[in-house]
Amino acid sequence: MARIPQNFIDDLLARTDIVQLIDGRVSLKRQGSEYAACCPFHDEKSPSFTVSPTKQFYHCFGCGAHGTAISFLMEYDRLEFRDAVEELARMAGVEIPQDAADSGPRIDPKIWEALNTAQGIFAHSLRGSDKAIDYLKSRGLDGRTAKRFGIGYAPAAWQTVVDAIADTRIAVQAGLAIRKDDGRAYDRFRDRVTFPIRDLRGRVIGFGGRAFGDEKPKYLNSPETPVFHKGTQLYGLYEARQASKELPHLLVVEGYMDVVALSQFGIHCAVATLGTATTTDHINLMFRSTSRIVLCFDGDRAGREAGWRAVERALPAMRDGREIRLLFLPDGEDPDTLVRKEGADAFNARVAGAEPLSSFLLNRLTEQVDLSSVDGRARLVALAKPHLEALAPGAFRKGLEQQVSEIVGFDIHDMTSAPPMRPPLPPPPEPQSVDEHEPPTLSPKVRRAARALLEQPGLAAELPSIPRLADAPDQQFLEQLIHAFAAKPSLTAAQYLERLRGEPDEATLEDVLNGDAVPAGFDPKADFQEALGLITQDNARRRIQELSALSGTRELTQAERDELRAAYQR
Ligand code: UTP
Ligand code: MN
Repeated sequence: MARIPQNFIDDLLARTDIVQLIDGRVSLKRQGSEYAACCPFHDEKSPSFTVSPTKQFYHCFGCGAHGTAISFLMEYDRLEFRDAVEELARMAGVEIPQDAADSGPRIDPKIWEALNTAQGIFAHSLRGSDKAIDYLKSRGLDGRTAKRFGIGYAPAAWQTVVDAIADTRIAVQAGLAIRKDDGRAYDRFRDRVTFPIRDLRGRVIGFGGRAFGDEKPKYLNSPETPVFHKGTQLYGLYEARQASKELPHLLVVEGYMDVVALSQFGIHCAVATLGTATTTDHINLMFRSTSRIVLCFDGDRAGREAGWRAVERALPAMRDGREIRLLFLPDGEDPDTLVRKEGADAFNARVAGAEPLSSFLLNRLTEQVDLSSVDGRARLVALAKPHLEALAPGAFRKGLEQQVSEIVGFDIHDMTSAPPMRPPLPPPPEPQSVDEHEPPTLSPKVRRAARALLEQPGLAAELPSIPRLADAPDQQFLEQLIHAFAAKPSLTAAQYLERLRGEPDEATLEDVLNGDAVPAGFDPKADFQEALGLITQDNARRRIQELSALSGTRELTQAERDELRAAYQR
C-alpha cells in the first residue's frame, strides 16, 4: 500500500481542529486553556478527558487514552489509519495525493487499459445496434442517461474484445475473457447490454451485462479481479458524486436499471450493490460521501429479511452524525417501475418518510417478545444487547439504550455498557533489533526541556542556534524535537507525533505528552532554558572528563583540543 506522504498528513492536521472534531462527537467544556469532557473511552462520572487546542492532542487521565485527531477517529470511529486520514481529508475538503490513494498491491496498468478498450468497443457497438437501442427505448431510457452511465452493447460474437486486446492473459485477468481448455480464450460478454462499473476516480473496473430476453443469467457480472471487488464497490457511486458535490443522502437500491432510471428522473443519488448483500464496507464507503443513507428494499417478506440483514451489517458503521433509514417499496415494484409510474416527487416523498434504523431495529425486536411479561421484557434486553454492543459509543448508542430502557421500564445501562468500550489493541510488533527499537527513556532534565517545548513550540525558534547535544538516545530525541520546532514554529505536538507514528520515539513522545497536568504558574520558557542549560553543562563536564582521560593515553588531535577548550568555556 502506497504510503500517504508525511507532508500531506502535516498539512491535513494543520487544517483540522481537534477541538471541533471531538466536540462534534463528545460535547466539550472549556477548562482554562484546555477542554474537558467525560471520557468517551471509559465509564466515568467526572471528566478526566482533556483536549489541548495548542498541542492538538487529547488525553484521558483516567484510562490513558490519548493521541491526535487521526488517533481519535481511529479509536472513536474505529477506523483504520488510512480511513481516518481519508475521513479527515473529506472533512477538510482536500484529496489524498493520487499515487497514495492507490491501495493494495501494484496493479498491472494493462488491466486498466483493457477495461477501457472494452468500454470503447461496447459504447461504439451500441450506436450500430438497432436491437440494443430498441431494447433500451422499450425500457424507457433516454439517450442522455444512457450516455451518462456509459451504457453499451457487447456484440454477439466470440472474439470482439479478445481480438482488440493484444495480451490474452490480461483480457482474462481483467475479467473480460474466459480461457478454454485448449488455451484459447473467448469474450465473456456477448450479445448483452453493458453497464460499466466505475471506481471513485471514474475508471472502469468491471461490467454488468443484461440479457435481452429470458436467457440465464439475466445479468452477467465481471468476476472478482485485481480491480473489481463486489464487497467493497458500488454501482453508480462515481456518477452520483459527479452529479453533485454535496450528496444530502445516498439511496441504496438493488439493480443497475434502478440506479439508471432514478437518475433519468433527476434522482442522482442512487447506488446499487453488485448482486450481493450490502456489507459494512459498502456502508462505510458511502459514509465517506454523505452522512445519510437510505436503504431501499422490496416490501415483501424477503425484502424485510434483506433489510434486517443490512441493518446488522450497518450497525458497526453507525456513528453520531450518521443516519441510516430503511425504505420498503410496495409489493411487486422496484424503484425503476415505481419512479416511472408515480414520478420523482412521489418517490422522493417516500424517501423522506423512510423509517429510521433505530425504530426498525426496535420494532423488529419488540415484535418477537411479549412485553406484558417480565420474561418477555428480559428477553428483549437480551435480544437488544448484541446489537447495542455492535455500536460505537456515543449519543446514538446511548439513545437506543435509553429507548430500550423505557420500553422495559428499567435501566439497562448497567447490563450493556460494561466491559470497557475501547477496542482491544493489536499485539505490539516484534522488535527486530532490541538496540535500535527500544524507545529512549528520558532523563529528568531532558524530559523537563521536552515538556516545556511541547507546551510552547515557539521556544525552539528563539534559540540562537540548535544545540549540538550528546549522542545518547534521549538527548538525540530532544535535539530532533528542537530541530523540528525550530524549522517550523507553527508545528503542533500532534503533527510531530504523527511524523513519529510507528517509530520507537513515538512512545517516548506520548509519554511526555501524557505527563501530569501542567502546574499552575508553569513558565515554559524559564523551564526550557534552565533545563537546556543544565543539559549542556552536564555534557561539557562529561566531555572534559573524557578528553582529559584520553590525553593521559595519547596526544589529543587539534579538533579534540578545540572541543576541550570550548567545553571549559561552558
Ligand atoms: P433483479 O432480478 O431484481 O432485476 O436483479 P432488475 O434489477 O429489476 O433488472 P431488470 O429491471 O429486470 O433489468 C437485481 C440486481 O441483482 C443483480 C443485478 O445487479 C441486478 O441489477 N443480478 C440479478 C445479477 O447479478 N444477476 C442476475 O442474474 C440477476
Ligand atoms: Mn427492474
